[in-house]
Amino acid sequence: MRYRKLGRTEMEVSEIGYGAWGIGGKQWLGGTDEESVRALRRAFELGLNFIDTALAYGDGHSERLVGSVVKNAAHRVYIATKVPPKNRIWPAAPGSPVGDVFPYEYIMSCTEESLRNLKVDSIDLQQLHVWDPGWMQRDEWKRAFEDLRTSGKVRYTGISINDHQPDTALEAVASGLIDAVQVIYNIFDQTPERNLFAAAQRHNVGVLARVPLDEGSLTGAIREDTAFEGDEFRAFYFRGDRKTQVVERVEALRADLDGVPGTLPEIALRFVITHPAVSTVIPGMRRVTTVESSLGVSDTGPLPEAIVEKLRNHAWNKNFYR
Ligand SMILES: NC(=O)c1ccc[n+]([C@@H]2O[C@H](COP(=O)([O-])OP(=O)(O)OC[C@H]3O[C@@H](n4cnc5c(N)ncnc54)[C@H](OP(=O)(O)O)[C@@H]3O)[C@@H](O)[C@H]2O)c1
Repeated sequence: MRYRKLGRTEMEVSEIGYGAWGIGGKQWLGGTDEESVRALRRAFELGLNFIDTALAYGDGHSERLVGSVVKNAAHRVYIATKVPPKNRIWPAAPGSPVGDVFPYEYIMSCTEESLRNLKVDSIDLQQLHVWDPGWMQRDEWKRAFEDLRTSGKVRYTGISINDHQPDTALEAVASGLIDAVQVIYNIFDQTPERNLFAAAQRHNVGVLARVPLDEGSLTGAIREDTAFEGDEFRAFYFRGDRKTQVVERVEALRADLDGVPGTLPEIALRFVITHPAVSTVIPGMRRVTTVESSLGVSDTGPLPEAIVEKLRNHAWNKNFYR
């Protein structure tokens, strides 16, 4: 496993981090806590030292699972979590008053709850779970972040950018107020390369690349007849004719990747860590087998430029979160 500096922080984080949404259950069905704990422990054994969770993932369940295993890791594991929007609207509706979404007292009390769930004295990276650039003019969240850092309850702060809108964080990145951004970056959504990544490098802000496998499209496992349990999130994400669209895109991708070593999800993760602005990529993982496959990607290094060039043609402008 290779490690990269997370922006201006002193944290050296594993290139492959742990996306902990799925292990929260509820929004992702089909896993078990026992399997998730085994997957987390295996990830630590293989050198992973960074986890991205959120208070909203399974209403604290993901945080509690993470809290139950990190202390037994043989090395220090850094934890990032998030304050959910108070109005429970993901992503933030444009122009939402910050008082409806992130009032000062609410950020403070959510952080206390996360500290209890995680059983730690300090959160390494606290993030706002949604973002609106209009909030740059407002003080509530800035004061809350500052007070949390001063008290030592939070070490560093960041924002998780709304789906497929990387440029809405450019002002925040340049402001010096945040240490990291979390953004969708994968073979289909390459838009952070246009402006955000250069800004993050210029201002020494860390980048957490989320949803590297497009919620499963880029695993190659989504087929026309793939069914999801109950009303879980992916049943919504892949509704209607979207599975057919995915199958067509993935077939074209596979044809272009013929001869490239590794499975499709491994190449997809390798694409993400090829960009030097990325501090860590955080695939969602619930099983030992996916952990072993994903973490092995770090040792393969960046993709050759010729392959990256081919992948440029597979960018896909869509928003399945709506
Ligand atoms: N607004 C936000 O801030 C926000 C929104 C979405 C996600 N996130 C963060 O980003 C993380 C990643 O996104 P995500 O979990 O939604 O989606 P994702 O990482 O794009 O995809 C997760 C899926 O990929 C599978 N997978 C992972 N590695 C694999 C491998 N090597 N081979 C085959 N399959 C593999 C997982 O399988 P198994 O689960 O079966 O192991 C899971 O089904 C989240 O966990 C969360 O931490 C943040």
